Formats: sequence, structure tokens, C-alpha cells
Amino acid sequence: MKASVIHEFGDTEVLKYEDVPTPGVRPGHVLVKILASGVNRLDHYIREGSVAPELSFPHILGIDASGEIEALGEGVSSFSIGDRVITVPGFPVEKNEYSVRPAATAPSFTLQGLGTPGTYAQYLETPQEWIIRDDTSLTPEETATLPVVLASGVRAVKKVGGVKAGDKVLIHSGASGSGSMQIQVAKALGAQVATTVRSDEKGELAKRVGADLVINTSREDFVEKVLEWTEGRGADVVIDTLGGDVLPKSIDAAKQLGVIVVFGFVAGIESKLDIRNFFFTQKQLKGTLSGDKEDLEWGLERVKEGKIKAVVGKTLPLKDASLAHKLIADNKVGGNVVLLPWAD
Ligand SMILES: NC(=O)c1ccc[n+]([C@@H]2O[C@H](COP(=O)([O-])OP(=O)(O)OC[C@H]3O[C@@H](n4cnc5c(N)ncnc54)[C@H](OP(=O)(O)O)[C@@H]3O)[C@@H](O)[C@H]2O)c1
Repeated sequence: MKASVIHEFGDTEVLKYEDVPTPGVRPGHVLVKILASGVNRLDHYIREGSVAPELSFPHILGIDASGEIEALGEGVSSFSIGDRVITVPGFPVEKNEYSVRPAATAPSFTLQGLGTPGTYAQYLETPQEWIIRDDTSLTPEETATLPVVLASGVRAVKKVGGVKAGDKVLIHSGASGSGSMQIQVAKALGAQVATTVRSDEKGELAKRVGADLVINTSREDFVEKVLEWTEGRGADVVIDTLGGDVLPKSIDAAKQLGVIVVFGFVAGIESKLDIRNFFFTQKQLKGTLSGDKEDLEWGLERVKEGKIKAVVGKTLPLKDASLAHKLIADNKVGGNVVLLPWAD
């Protein structure tokens, strides 16, 4: 089969389009013919060597995929040949940890394309528990964008952030893969959403996915804007995908007793925080990682109801995986990037 393979860490050029053996199917596993692979910023971090230095090579990246069942391993009864499926973004490797919740707290938790060969390929061999039936009626390109951003978005906004109807929520990078989905999750829960972008073009996308207030941080101060929007109170919940020097300002934009969910570190891995915020105003800083199968299922129900839509920013053939990573590294795409393993 064709796959995009890395043999070393490095810049986007280390992604090589190659022939590799098509995997056989082990008992309890399935072989999925991949119709579309989603690209996440995490793939870019793994490729450059900044998050998983222990990775062994050659390695196939890719957490997200949409496809159909090509072959069933011995003992698989929950799927049939031809069923449309999507990947669950993360899962424990050890069977006795399958019921641990959140799944990301299980000692053997990993992701497709991190602890196992990933989805930048024509086929994926995976345990039947690591996939979910796709009955959304979306195109493969659309469903391939969903697993990571939808499962992690539901977890961060609904479960960790505790967002509920009537809340005023600040979500950063409203045109990003994660941000554009988190806005939709918060809206599906009945909240109002303010979001940040750095260009008017990305602001248009953030509005299209439902943001009530778009703040362009290249000319506006988001703390001031959020305080104005909430009549001086501050946001009930802030989802911070940026970290770095943005996180302290996100804390300033939250209300007394408000929740700030630390979701990512696009702007930096270190932040300087004023500890007094956690005494006098009793704000709550919470972490989140990935999402469970149940989070993905909740999100897919909202997709079927038409409340949440996939945001496809760019589609490329698999052989152009290095270009896909370059577009992400340069912040050139709104929404999600998708790779097509069978396109020329
Ligand atoms: N906790 C979890 O479970 C989880 C799950 C998925 C992803 N993540 C993390 O979430 C983060 C975002 O991932 P993603 O896939 O959504 O990324 P993405 O689609 O690549 O979007 C990131 C966006 O951040 C903005 N940006 C870049 N540099 C910035 C800076 N210095 N200051 C402000 N904004 C900046 C850019 O938008 P503009 O140009 O419009 O500003 C860019 O499009 C990553 O750190 C990722 O690892 C965490």
C-alpha cells in the first residue's frame, strides 16, 4: 500500500510517500480501507520531535481517518465488510484498561499514529474497539476531520469546562481545527461564544461556525472586549488552545469562580501566572486531554441533528502530506486539512 512515512524527526520534508507492506489482520482487529485521513497540529508536533522523542522509525503519522471495513480478524462480530467507520482518537492499548475513564488517564493510553502506525496510509489495521460506526451521511473528507477535534472539543467544553445553556464562553483561535469545533459544541449546549482570530478572513470562518463575537487580536484587546461583552463580569468559561503569554490574559478574561481550560500550547509551553488570581477571585484552571468514545458519540449525535458541521479547510492527495504539514505550521488554513490516500 501507499503511505506517508517518516524515518527521522525534522521539517515537513521528512514525510516520504512510499510503498509499505499492507498489514495483515490480527484476531479482534479490523483492516480499514482509508478513504480520507485528517491532519492535526499534533501530527506536526510529533513529526518535528517535540512531543514523542521515544518514537521508533519508520513511522506512519495520523490519528484521524474515515473509511470502510476491508477485512475482519478472527472473533470480530461488531462490524461487517463494507461498514463505514471512523477512528476513535485515543484508547488504552491494554484490554484490561478499556473501561478506564477518562480513557486518557489509563497507563497504556495512546493515539493512532503515536503508539501505533497511523492513518496517513491506504489501510489501517486496528483493534475493533478503536473505531466507531459512521452513520452521519457526511462525505469521507468531512468525517475524517471529526475524531480529534470533536471528541476533545466535547470533553473540553462540556465535561471539563462544564459549559451550559446561557453561559458566555471565550474560545481562542475560532478558525482553527479545534476552535471551530469548540465553538459549535458550546453553541450546541446553548452558550454564547466570543472568539479570537488574527485576520478578518479567519474571522469570517469563525462567524460562519456560530461565534457571536469575533475579536481580531491584531487590533483589539480580547480581555477588554470580553469584559465589555459580559458587562464587566468576565467569561463563565475560557477554552485556551494557545498557552504561552496568552494564558494569563485568558485568566484575566474569566469571571470570579470562572473555569479556564488549558487545551493547547500553540503560543508557547510556558506561562507566568499571578497566583493571587486563584485566591481572591477563586478562578479554576483545569487541564484536558483527548476525549472518550462517549464524547465522540455525543458529538456525532449533534452532527446528525445538524447542530455541528465538519469544517474542511483544504483537501490534498496523500502524496502531498508534507505540504499539508507546511500549511499547518504556517497557520495558512482555516478549519481542518484532509489527505486522500487514493487520489493522484
Ligand atoms: N487537549 C487536547 O485534547 C487537544 C486536542 C487537540 C489539539 N490540542 C492542541 O490544541 C492546539 C491547537 O490545535 P489545532 O489542531 O486546533 O491547531 P490549528 O488548526 O493548526 O490552529 C492553530 C491556530 O492557532 C493560531 N495561532 C498560531 N500561532 C499563534 C500565536 N502565536 N498566537 C495566537 N494564535 C496563534 C492560528 O490561527 P490565527 O492565524 O487565526 O490566529 C492557527 O491557525 C495545539 O496546541 C494542539 O496540540 C489539544
